[in-house]
Amino acid sequence: MCGIIGVAKKTNTEEVLGMLKRLEYRGYDSFGIATDSVFEKEVGEIKPVQNSECNMAIAHTRWATHGSVTRENAHPHSDCSNKIFLVHNGIISNYQSLKAGLKGHVFKSETDTEVIAHFFEEKLKTMDIKEAVKEFFRAAAGEFAIVLMIKGDSNLYALKRGSPLSLGVTKDGNILASDIYAFSDKTQDAIFFHEDEFAIISKAGYEFYRMYDDLEPQKKEITKVEWSGTVEKKYDHYMIKEIYEQPEAIERLQLSLQSAQKEKLENLKEMIKQSKRTVFVASGTSYHATLLGVYFLNQAGVEAHTMIASEFQNFYLVDKDTLIIAVSQSGETMDVIEALHGMKGKGAKIASFVNVPYSTIQRMSNVSVNIEAGQEICVASTKAFTNQAVGLAYLASLFNGGMDFQKVTNSIKHIISQEQKIKEIAKTLKKKEDMYIIGRGFLYPVAREVALKVKEISYIHAEGMMGGELKHGTLALIEKDTPVIALVNGKTEIVSNAMEIKARGGRIIPFTNSDTTLGDPININAEDELSFALAATVAGQLLTYHIAREKNLPIDKPRNLAKSVTVK
Ligand code: F6R
Repeated sequence: MCGIIGVAKKTNTEEVLGMLKRLEYRGYDSFGIATDSVFEKEVGEIKPVQNSECNMAIAHTRWATHGSVTRENAHPHSDCSNKIFLVHNGIISNYQSLKAGLKGHVFKSETDTEVIAHFFEEKLKTMDIKEAVKEFFRAAAGEFAIVLMIKGDSNLYALKRGSPLSLGVTKDGNILASDIYAFSDKTQDAIFFHEDEFAIISKAGYEFYRMYDDLEPQKKEITKVEWSGTVEKKYDHYMIKEIYEQPEAIERLQLSLQSAQKEKLENLKEMIKQSKRTVFVASGTSYHATLLGVYFLNQAGVEAHTMIASEFQNFYLVDKDTLIIAVSQSGETMDVIEALHGMKGKGAKIASFVNVPYSTIQRMSNVSVNIEAGQEICVASTKAFTNQAVGLAYLASLFNGGMDFQKVTNSIKHIISQEQKIKEIAKTLKKKEDMYIIGRGFLYPVAREVALKVKEISYIHAEGMMGGELKHGTLALIEKDTPVIALVNGKTEIVSNAMEIKARGGRIIPFTNSDTTLGDPININAEDELSFALAATVAGQLLTYHIAREKNLPIDKPRNLAKSVTVK
């Protein structure tokens, strides 16, 4: 994971760290910056360093993989003579064997990254930078986006394999970044690196080379990036801002699906019809959205399946008649990208639903639908989940006649109007260590999603399950006052499951649209399944948010996590 920046233009440390801050969603264990005159790194979130002017800089925000969270392990890393500085996103999986070949070098950290600096130090003794880069591409295994800065040299050197890297072209110089948001306030002109590309970047220009057998010069296209969504913050946390934004995000998506993206949706419908099967691939919250996608497509008579990306190849066989639909907020999740590479090799067609435009997954797809949630900053996904689910339900509705967006937004607004009541419930849950969420049918994915939110934001162990599965084991864990959220949509089976918990002393918190004797409910005012599912999800998001507030937790940046998971 991690976010990297390389700036080849007249700038200052404050500006560079400002750009780095926009990548903090990629990790925030430690940060660091090196310029022609400054070298600072520190554990923790990005903080200002003494401001100074410079002509060149590299910077990094870390999500630890190799080596614990310490100042020594923070980037930039340097060689023995502190001449070569570099930042890296990815993992050099054979770093130990590379290190073993670097005799006499003194290593200061436990990271895989530092090996790269010493590798270049060694190679540059006998060859020029292009030869050294070729050697590195041949020797290194794993994924990397690297920016190298060499003292006394007016160029930055950038290498990409696996991890994302883009270049922002401004009138005063050039900016390298893990993603385009870093320079979104500086330019609309972006260049995306391809696999195994190397670039020499200066204030005055750039040269790109592709590593085939040798480094071959490449012509690169400039993409005019259109920025949507806003990043300004008027609330205490991005999470609550993004929860409130959901009705508006759905309206934006509806408009787009029915106008700008109409043709894309029609193409996707055709692709589904012409495939033998449709299989979703996703991770985390996005996987939960795909469970809803499977449910709605199956309801519409379309055979659909889903599989978690990191285990896809172990549990699913695909062929050229399979249509794969990747679902991802960031469009950069490495598990999804890896799975897609495998499927492309087998001839499968790729479609996607993505929030971040121009992302790797979008660029790998034959057809890609933008879910139009706008930039999501809180690590926990809220509005992106909702728009993924709405987008997938809309796709299903193309097979069985329309859907009513208005009902969905009304149901969500009705939940938001009950925030005070949800806050009171949160107070009663803050000391709990375990929680369960049960649902059946279309409410099973919601149970999973609410449980994930509870774990990551309020640090309470939570399990989201199919109501029918309780009696097959988990019921043994129910004790007096164990909290269980029951997603009750009037069907008798789920009411019976909740009663079974109540009979054993558990405390039921019903999210329901029907009268029950189960307990004081959060009222879901929903006439259809999608509205119910999303209203219940939003109730869960609000509950989680308020539990975390009660516990004074770092809501937007929960410990150990990052928003964009770019490692396997
Ligand atoms: C949880 C969350 C994660 C992501 C997962 C996939 O709130 O945000 O579980 O859903 O890391 O990320 P994307 O959707 O970017 O592929």
